[in-house]
Amino acid sequence: MKTSPIIALDFDSSQQVFDFLQPFESDVNVKVGMQLYYKEGPAIISELKERGFDIFLDLKLHDIPNTVKSAMEVLASLGVNLVNVHAAGGKTMMEAALEGLDKGTPAGMKRPSIIGVTQLTSTDERQVREEQLIQSSLQESVLHYARLTKDSGLDGVVCSVHEAAIITEVCGPDFLKVTPGIRLPKSGTHDQKRIATPEEARIKGSTHIVVGRAIKGASDPLAAYENINARWEGVE
Ligand code: C5P
Repeated sequence: MKTSPIIALDFDSSQQVFDFLQPFESDVNVKVGMQLYYKEGPAIISELKERGFDIFLDLKLHDIPNTVKSAMEVLASLGVNLVNVHAAGGKTMMEAALEGLDKGTPAGMKRPSIIGVTQLTSTDERQVREEQLIQSSLQESVLHYARLTKDSGLDGVVCSVHEAAIITEVCGPDFLKVTPGIRLPKSGTHDQKRIATPEEARIKGSTHIVVGRAIKGASDPLAAYENINARWEGVE
């Protein structure tokens, strides 16, 4: 997947998606999440692919290994660039996901990259301790899941910007660090807890940023994207 910002297409119809994407070039990266995929299904992927977009299919699979393997086999056949699972599903599940992807990738095509969600960017220290009953710090938990993801053979993780540097140290620079929770200074956090600006993401070593509401909710989404991209690339 190209390193430009990944725009989260958090809409519930393909009509809204293509209206929104109209001013954008087809070389931007897009993310299809649960809301859009559950409504429009694989057809939305074919339509985006036909128009040339690189696609992160963000369905965050988390189930028994055999189910995840079979589901990944189907997702690989869609020809998306990036998929994900919850690292909390465990090593056997992540290995099964990879196996399913390898099996489902059509001959002559590149296997989609696959990353593990460590701790959601909407999760904070209190939730890790009180709700998940994990006695380590949030950062230790994220790092533990990053190591497990790497040991399972996956290509990287979803994490917050605040953990990107330590994950690079432990898992190497080529290990993907895809970071949501991106906000411009002085904008609202919404349901996200571990947020950061595009500049911080670049400095701390994210390999990709995912941006939803900061673009979708702007009065001029293309201008917001260009502003975020310039900050991410360090030319602002
Ligand atoms: O609007 P906002 O920029 O917060 O959107 C972030 C997007 O990234 C949403 O589509 C959300 O589902 C997704 N995401 C996330 N945290 C993760 C993985 C994906 O916020 N760990």
